[in-house]
Amino acid sequence: MKKKFYLTTPLYYVNDVPHVGHTYTTVIADAIARYKRMCGFDVCFLTGTDEHGLKLERAAGEQGVTPQQLVDTFAGEFEKTWRSLGISFDQFIRTSQDRHHQAVAEIFQKMKKDGFIYTGKYEGYYCVRCESYVPEGEKTCPDCGRSTEFMTEESYFFKLSALQEELLDFYTDNPDFVLPGSRMNEVVSFVKGGLQDISISRTSFSWGIPVPEDERHIFYVWFDALTGYLSGAGYGSKPEQFKEAWPADIHLIGKDILRFHAVYWPAFLMAAGLEAPRHVLAHGWWTVAGEKMSKSRGNFITTEELMEVAEADCVKYFLMREIALGADGNFSYDGLLTRTNSDLANDLGNSANRTLKMIENYFDGAIPELGEAEGGDKELREFSLETIALYKKYFDQFQINRALGSVWELISVLNKYLVANQPWMMAKDPGKRGRLGTVLYNSAETLRCIAVMLGPVIPSGAESILRQLGVVEPLEQHQLSDLAWGRLKQGSAIGEIVPIYPRLDPNEFQARIDAAKAKKSGAASAASEAEPPAESQSDDRIGIEEFARIDMRVGKVLSAEALPKSKRLLKLQVDLGSEVRQIVAGIAEAYTPESLPGRLVVIVANLKPARLMGVESNGMIVAASDGDRPVLVTLTEPVELGSRLK
Ligand code: MSP
Repeated sequence: MKKKFYLTTPLYYVNDVPHVGHTYTTVIADAIARYKRMCGFDVCFLTGTDEHGLKLERAAGEQGVTPQQLVDTFAGEFEKTWRSLGISFDQFIRTSQDRHHQAVAEIFQKMKKDGFIYTGKYEGYYCVRCESYVPEGEKTCPDCGRSTEFMTEESYFFKLSALQEELLDFYTDNPDFVLPGSRMNEVVSFVKGGLQDISISRTSFSWGIPVPEDERHIFYVWFDALTGYLSGAGYGSKPEQFKEAWPADIHLIGKDILRFHAVYWPAFLMAAGLEAPRHVLAHGWWTVAGEKMSKSRGNFITTEELMEVAEADCVKYFLMREIALGADGNFSYDGLLTRTNSDLANDLGNSANRTLKMIENYFDGAIPELGEAEGGDKELREFSLETIALYKKYFDQFQINRALGSVWELISVLNKYLVANQPWMMAKDPGKRGRLGTVLYNSAETLRCIAVMLGPVIPSGAESILRQLGVVEPLEQHQLSDLAWGRLKQGSAIGEIVPIYPRLDPNEFQARIDAAKAKKSGAASAASEAEPPAESQSDDRIGIEEFARIDMRVGKVLSAEALPKSKRLLKLQVDLGSEVRQIVAGIAEAYTPESLPGRLVVIVANLKPARLMGVESNGMIVAASDGDRPVLVTLTEPVELGSRLK
């Protein structure tokens, strides 16, 4: 029987549409869920919406709708957005659902029966934004910095103070309860600092779940929302299913809501006689241009806007690759463009396309036969197998960016293997047909392993590569443990070749951003009629997007020869890691052909091809002009070939 794995995202507040922060959490959870399925677990992936509380009641009032209308609209938006982003959730819990109301009533009654609940009077400062009471005497919220409101009301209290020691023992017994480990200390110090009982009901508003047998009281929204992790798994409605699912293996959250998940939540569960979750995994926070994202600052990036600008896979890859889980990051569209063009279109897309095209052209689209290993074959196979192990190690530690980094190293090794073996040259020599087949088999097999490993993060592209390789089993059926070398069937037909992740043109990309932003602010027509800023008419400085259009890369000169009849020109073959370029450069008066092989150079890679003295040149070598003398730009440290200059 498969081992179960229960994973959750926070239940998002539905006072607005999903944005890049919600997307980040959800995409990490999706990647982990897909990875665990690929490791043979029976995964239950829950997401959902937190629909009660004063904040929502007020938001509805401001928008002139009832709370129910407001939450129906935005809960629908969340669910629809996650579906269009291809999020593989199994359960979507809404805290306004009956099954959830039942669960909240049940857990409360159990706690009450066991003596963890009493009534009293609450007086204190409350942050409506965070739906949380702040420490005594504080007039601003320590989490969001907004002013708090003084409230006094009769309330049901939860005896948190009685569980202080039990919580500390639990942390000692489960030192990796909070991940990354660095955050565990902050939780332990908070609890050691002393716990006060917490108020878990309100009488000052009505939008929420009433306390059983005392309907003047509405449950405190965090008490209500956290219980969503139980109700989504069947607590209170499907006891058999719940028994299988609980405890949760991971609650994935942002660092902002760690205390609720690592202190209050295990305490609630202890009081209800339920096991605590195995891990709370807290990720970092995204800023935009270094600033906290907010509507008032106008730097709020919605998920819809993101998806209008780039493919879902590109958004997911960017978010997963750009920062380590736990660290903070700065969101920029330039970063998204660079990751898409450089990693997905260039590195991955080109190596897949080249390999498949050669199989189509030289072997009529049938996977060639694998012959004797020679010339780097063994190294490629071993590197692929080492990468699978490393990838697994990193993913198991939730270091998704490093797991991806290791796959990209394999992509680079595959590209080097192609450059070193030059199958396009072998194809010209009938005597090398067997060897050509072996090189292409090995390349295709490496590509298969790469596609399967990338499945959890970029499922559409991974599926497409498998289809193109002619693999019939859908992506979901591939298990990491089956990823042994040599599974690709010799002689089987490859599928139709379609380029994955076409390169995004920076101008077109910028136009998409502008259109998405205009649509978001409801000002599409105003934006298209707007005059360009006065500055741009007289100033010849360029914006970063224009600079980003110049694709400068590091290459290594493989060979150089003089062009007959030219004093100035040399013909060079330059290795860019993923391909070899022929470049004609006007440097013969300063450099001899013998001095160049092995030298690292910088080239402009996206220059249109040109013919110089009848020889095709594909790119330009960058050099300083010292009077008439060209001086090649030099890199003084080793650099991966193909690295981009920016
Ligand atoms: N409703 C509560 C959670 C209850 S869970 C039982 C809540 N909702 S929220 O809509 O505010 O979403 C919180 C989560 O969204 C954060 O924990 C984090 O996962 C994510 N993010 C919101 N803004 C974010 C960033 N700017 N950056 C990264 N993640 C962020 O809190």
